[in-house]
Amino acid sequence: MTTTFPDVSISTERLVLRPFEDADIPAYTEMMNDDLVAAWTSAPLPYTSGDAYDWVRRIAPAQRTRGDGIALAVTEFLTQRLVGTIRLRNTNWHTLATEISYVTAPWARGEGYATESVLAVAKWLFRNQKFERMELRTPADNTASQQVAQKVGGISEGVLRNAWIARFQTDAGDWVDMRTDLIVWSLLPEDLEGGTDEMAQFGYASFNELN
Ligand SMILES: CC(C)(COP(=O)(O)OP(=O)(O)OC[C@H]1O[C@@H](n2cnc3c(N)ncnc32)[C@H](O)[C@@H]1OP(=O)(O)O)[C@@H](O)C(=O)NCCC(=O)NCCS
Repeated sequence: MTTTFPDVSISTERLVLRPFEDADIPAYTEMMNDDLVAAWTSAPLPYTSGDAYDWVRRIAPAQRTRGDGIALAVTEFLTQRLVGTIRLRNTNWHTLATEISYVTAPWARGEGYATESVLAVAKWLFRNQKFERMELRTPADNTASQQVAQKVGGISEGVLRNAWIARFQTDAGDWVDMRTDLIVWSLLPEDLEGGTDEMAQFGYASFNELN
């Protein structure tokens, strides 16, 4: 049984999703130093270039070789700029199930990039890697993330009560932990055949294994 994802490059209409490179470190550091990333992810706060270096060089590759998942840099095809990241984690190679999470750089939000990336990764996961389930977990107040889950055709399965600690910024500017519920969504191979508007709009994806 395969227990690691291959290194892969995934191309869509507007994007190329590929492994991280050292050259991504400055843009990745900037992207992760953002209030919404601080609020809704468990990334280090503040996020330093040392954190980005560690992620690109050590943590992301180790997660792939360990079989936990894969991290991909999302870049614009035309400009090659880093616009976001997509991550698969908590992968179960027996049930062929995994969890996806996403971040889009502040300046690139609202363009449909997270939606396009998630759909492309789902296609690769189901068609190429023969997975049977992709899960999304969105904190209850993270509306943008829920929009993405909905737009890719995710089915909402229920609520994990008190399951996540988000961060909240006080008027004084301090970040404090805030317990929150998680909404669980899933996508199965057959859901991709459903044909939402977004699937028609962002549907194209091609895959190129790098090893
Ligand atoms: C969630 C996130 C990845 C979305 O990225 P994106 O590339 O802007 O996503 P898309 O453009 O594909 O879709 C975003 C949708 O959310 C909507 N949206 C964005 N901000 C919103 C808000 N505050 N309230 C309601 N909807 C919002 C957008 O309008 C868009 O929907 P639309 O196309 O129907 O207008 C981005 O906001 C982000 O990086 N947030 C911080 C990290 C994060 O929360 N990650 C998810 C952890 S579960």
